[in-house]
Amino acid sequence: MQALVLVGGKGTRLQPLTTDTPKPILTLVDRPFLAYMIEWLASHGVDEVVFACGFLPDQLQEVLGDGSGGGPRLRYLVEPEPLGTAGAIKFAAPYLEERFFALNGDVLTDLDLTALWRSHEKRKARLSLGLYPVDDPSNYGLVDVDADGAVRDFHEKPDPGHSGPGLISAGAYVIEREVLDMIPEQRNVSIEREVFPRLLGKGLCGLRLDGYWKDIGTPERYMEASWDIIEGRVETAVSGDEGGVFVSPAAEVAAGAQIGPRAVIGDGCLVAAGARVSDSVLLDGCRIGENAVVTDSIFSPGVTV
Ligand code: GDD
Ligand code: MG
Repeated sequence: MQALVLVGGKGTRLQPLTTDTPKPILTLVDRPFLAYMIEWLASHGVDEVVFACGFLPDQLQEVLGDGSGGGPRLRYLVEPEPLGTAGAIKFAAPYLEERFFALNGDVLTDLDLTALWRSHEKRKARLSLGLYPVDDPSNYGLVDVDADGAVRDFHEKPDPGHSGPGLISAGAYVIEREVLDMIPEQRNVSIEREVFPRLLGKGLCGLRLDGYWKDIGTPERYMEASWDIIEGRVETAVSGDEGGVFVSPAAEVAAGAQIGPRAVIGDGCLVAAGARVSDSVLLDGCRIGENAVVTDSIFSPGVTV
């Protein structure tokens, strides 16, 4: 089984964390963000992941490798210029199978992709959307689906007229290869704005999926995602402790320093005696001096206080 992951965005809302490190490989707790996505895809039978890249693809490849160390095989495609969410899929066409998963590469989730694949097959859909309930759909794609799972309407970034809770597109799709014929070549095409509307009533289906789902694209959500991982609200291999604390085995915390509630202390960090760190993430190699107090902060690698 194959998955195409869209990772062409710039991650501007996470700057300066994403100035030197692209968002897909920004460390989340103890590993690059995309490692969670690869682990999730593998748990649903994916054995090949194709990354549709834009920003700094070399770094991505360097950090994630080709998968030969275990897990799915990893390939990287680089668009000559950003082609949009559908254009990037079209660009990957030579590498894609008859039916494949496509994913937005900026969400932390454990939604049941196997259920989405099965429902896609059962309904003989052409494109199936994983749906997730949210209170405020305004930053997402709002989906209206009938009792049989046929999508009746799709509104990308709906205006306030659509306010109130609703089902949004979780950015996880099962796609039939024939859908690629609808995407014009060599120009920027949005799957949300140009492809979904044309597929209404023509095999566009949706299935509500339960579980954990969060777009990690802002500092607030990046922090929430960290505590959710450590405190066990997302299904992953990473674990922390009850107080929401994760200290890397390669960090040094002096006796008498106070860590938590809620803290990530990355590789090579030094926290001196009497220091207090709470509600904060220290990326690799930060140094917190004696009696310093750090709270409600995310530190880029190498910050000294
Ligand atoms: N390769 C490539 N090329 N990837 C791209 C491009 C491009 O030109 N443009 C965007 N992407 C990637 C982004 O990196 C991201 O992983 C994904 O496509 C979606 O783009 P975003 O810019 O993050 O879109 P959004 O978050 O505003 O909305 C999308 O995601 C929502 C769920 O988080 C839409 O798909 C919504 O419908 C959806 O609800
Ligand atoms: Mg996004």
